[in-house]
Amino acid sequence: MPIEDIKKIIAIASGKGGVGKSTVTANLAMATALEGKSVGVLDADLYGPSMGIMFGLSEDTIPAFSHGVKVATLAQQFPAKKANAWRGPRAAALVNNLLNFVDWGNLDVLFIDLPPGTGDVQLSVIQGCKLSGVIMVCTPQTVALADCIKGIDLFKETNVPILGLIENMSSFICDNCKKEHFIFGKEGAKDLAQKLGIPLLGQIPIEASLMQGGENGLPGVLANPNCIGARVFGELVLRLLESNQI
Ligand SMILES: Nc1ncnc2c1ncn2[C@@H]1O[C@H](COP(=O)(O)OP(=O)(O)O)[C@@H](O)[C@H]1O
Ligand SMILES: [Mg+2]
Ligand SMILES: [Zn+2]
Repeated sequence: MPIEDIKKIIAIASGKGGVGKSTVTANLAMATALEGKSVGVLDADLYGPSMGIMFGLSEDTIPAFSHGVKVATLAQQFPAKKANAWRGPRAAALVNNLLNFVDWGNLDVLFIDLPPGTGDVQLSVIQGCKLSGVIMVCTPQTVALADCIKGIDLFKETNVPILGLIENMSSFICDNCKKEHFIFGKEGAKDLAQKLGIPLLGQIPIEASLMQGGENGLPGVLANPNCIGARVFGELVLRLLESNQI
């Protein structure tokens, strides 16, 4: 099935690395699959692919299957200890192969996990398929917000609908005293979303279970459905499905 036949293609982006794009991608994909949709994940972070570990892939086929989700990643294709040092044209070719030569089948939603920044890979994805929308991920710190603004602008300029912003690592709730600590600042991404007039899709706290899920190949929504983050992901996916955005 050609890429044009996938009903919805959603990119997950941020300005900065380490803010939780891959964690968000894995959990949104899993939560959408749990709603009975056929879901794929394209790992476009060619330089630091995370989907192999986050979905616990053992097979090196493309796509591979994990908990009912179709995952295409280059994580298993190149030696783990070697840098993926690719210039723009090579990166563009790899992205286009993942978009066009993977047997995606009849997908309801394809989620694309992007690398950080506004470079070759983002441009290749934007030009290589018709994105239905992009979900931005940001942490509350000023340095992350500054980069996120640039990321949002790229999608605005290229007419990709911005579905909204997820504030990740919004706080930490101490399991001892139950106090909520705003380690990275309070509601920075929420304020940014308001300022730019884009929806705040959800606030995900720092939770050991979300991190461990990623480490163990079982996205948090599956491994720990009752943690706060898992519930926020679940509700957010339901809202996006109901509004036909994903
Ligand atoms: N809400 C969260 N709570 C705990 N750990 C998180 C959370 N979000 C992300 N992490 C962890 O932070 C690290 C970076 O997240 P990742 O999803 O790889 O970011 P990115 O893809 O933006 O570089 C990972 O080890 C991940 O498990
Ligand atoms: Mg990542
Ligand atoms: Zn405490």
